[in-house]
This record gives sequence, structure tokens and C-alpha cells, in this order.
Amino acid sequence: MSENTPDESRPGDPEPGSAAVRLDQGHVQGDGGLPEQFQNPGMPPHEHRAADDDPKAAKRAERQVAGLFLLSMLGTVLFIVAYFMVDVETEVYVPITGQMSLANLLLGLGLALSLLGIGLGAVQWAKTLMPDTEVVEMRHPLRSSKESRDGFVDTMLDGAESSQLTRRPLLKATFGGAMGLFSLPLLVQLVGSLGPLPKKDLSTTMWTEGKRLMLDPEARPVKASDVTIGSVFHILPEGIMDIHGPDRLTQIGKATVLMMRLNPEDFQDTEKGRKAREWGYQGIVAYSKVCTHVGCPVGLYEQTTHHLLCPCHQSTFDVTNDCEVIFGPAGRPLPQLKITVDGEGYLIADQEFQEPVGPSFWERES
Ligand code: FES
Repeated sequence: MSENTPDESRPGDPEPGSAAVRLDQGHVQGDGGLPEQFQNPGMPPHEHRAADDDPKAAKRAERQVAGLFLLSMLGTVLFIVAYFMVDVETEVYVPITGQMSLANLLLGLGLALSLLGIGLGAVQWAKTLMPDTEVVEMRHPLRSSKESRDGFVDTMLDGAESSQLTRRPLLKATFGGAMGLFSLPLLVQLVGSLGPLPKKDLSTTMWTEGKRLMLDPEARPVKASDVTIGSVFHILPEGIMDIHGPDRLTQIGKATVLMMRLNPEDFQDTEKGRKAREWGYQGIVAYSKVCTHVGCPVGLYEQTTHHLLCPCHQSTFDVTNDCEVIFGPAGRPLPQLKITVDGEGYLIADQEFQEPVGPSFWERES
């Protein structure tokens, strides 16, 4: 194997003393003998294709391109026929994929042929018949010349003058009003289609004072004595299963809570840590399960570190410090539900959530 040194010459190298410099060694020390300016290598010579010189080859290429476009047309017709004429319930067996809807199959095939025919036809056309010489368009400023811009202004002013817009203020005002109001229907449609205002829906849940904490999905109340240290439960408010219809899922989505029991000494001796312990009951604490980032369920509890982890973007909340965010994109801690026990020892909410659950939104207080 020979080393490439500046003194060695190889086939194709420039003549000694010429301005071109070989750069295939990746770097050059010093000035490396670089010239002031590199020569423009120019365009490679145009290679004639069969269709450029032979009329028969050109005709053949034309027929190929036309055939591909015809294939595309057939695909489009197939799509339309399948859309209107084939029953969506009709099924056929297709090897590899198995049973499938005949309508879907034909729609897919039709659309695929339609696009494929156009694509292949265009490529074949470009490769065989379109001119393949490279053309250079020199750069020029995009801004129009001053004369052109002045000419445009003059034309507009002349137009306004000859249309009498400047001399007839009534026309000017009503024309402006009509054009301005014309945009309103677009805005009205946009605003009107946003649906009803959420009102208090974003800031309230079903939790109110005295509601029992019910195990999810068993929907049975839980006593404080049943919650051992280290355990974690999914909780819903009492009565939520009595809701029927789609609103039940909405309410569950907002009110879902995670409850866990820590050793009371595990809470940090900070203002937040003390508050978290006081809002709990003998180390049992309950927090909204809806991530304050974009609302995924915070479903992972690490018992030894007392961290709650959201699997969506890894926001991590420290339960020992009032679910403070210690990692990830969440902007605020998980809201805590203050709990206590009723006369029978069942865990109940001591008050509603004191701040909205879930992702932050424009009207969220605090
Ligand atoms: S939704 Fe929880 S981290 Fe993004």
C-alpha cells in the first residue's frame, strides 16, 4: 500500500504547476499550495439518449408514458366504482392478510394505481423525453426595482382616482365596510364551532367533603386500617359509578386518584412535606392521578424512593415533598386531596381539590 504524499503523482492528477489541488487526503497543512480561486469545473457534456436522436425510440417512450397515465386513470375509475358500487360488508379472502373488506381492498388498489401511474409516468417522461441539459439560472435580487415599485403605486393611485373612490367618501366607506364585514362569517363559523364553553368543568371534580374513597374498579370503600405501609391504590369518589352515559368517563378522568401509605417519618421536614403529611391520615396520602403536564395517568409508584412517575414524558413527582416535580416537563405538583376517616373508619375526602387537576390551562388559578 503506498502513501499519498504531495510529491507523488497519480493518473488524472493535474500537471505540475497547474492551479488545481488534490484534496482527497481530507486536510491540508499550511496553505497547502491552495490557489486564490478554484476554477469552475463546468457542466458535464450532454449525453444523448436514444429518444433524442431516434424518432422510433421517442415514439416508444411516448407510448410508455401514455400507458402509465392510462393506468392511473383506470385506478381512479376503480376507486370511484368501488366507492359507490361495492357493499362495505362484503368480505374476501386475501392471502397473507386473510379476510378483509372488498370495498377497502378495491379502494386501496384504485388509489395506489392512480398515484403510482402518475408518479411512474412523470419519471419516465422526465428521463426519456424532457430535455436533460442542465440550465443555470443566475441569482438576482428578489426585490423589484424602484421604478417598478413607484410604477405600481402610481397605477394603484390612478385606479383609485379613475374609479372615483377618492372623490366619493360614501363609496369609500361602504366599500370598506362591505369588505371588512365579509370576513366576519369566516370568524363566526370558527368561533361558533368551538363548542360550549367549559365553564367550571376544568376546575371541579366530583370530590366533595365527606365522599368516601372507593377502590377502582371494585367500587367499595376502604378503611384506613386496610392500607398498609408501602401499598398503593387506585381510587374513585363514592357515587361516580351511579352516573350513566358518557359523562361517567369524563368524571372518572378528572377525579381519579392515587392513594399510598408512607411511614409518617418519610415525609420531608419542609413546609411542603409537612403540609402533605397533615393533609393525609397517618401517612396515607391521596393525589390526583392526572399528570399536570398533558394529562396522562401517573401510574408508576416507586416504593423505596416514594416517587411517582408519569410514563408519557417521565415527569417525576416526589410524594415525600407534596408531589413536587423533581424531573420532567410537568409544570406544577400533582394536586393533593385532603383526606380523613369517618365514624366507621372509612377514608373520606376532607374537602374538594383546592386547585384544578390535570394540565395547566389559561384560567387556572394559582
Ligand atoms: S403527560 Fe406526564 S409527563 Fe407528559
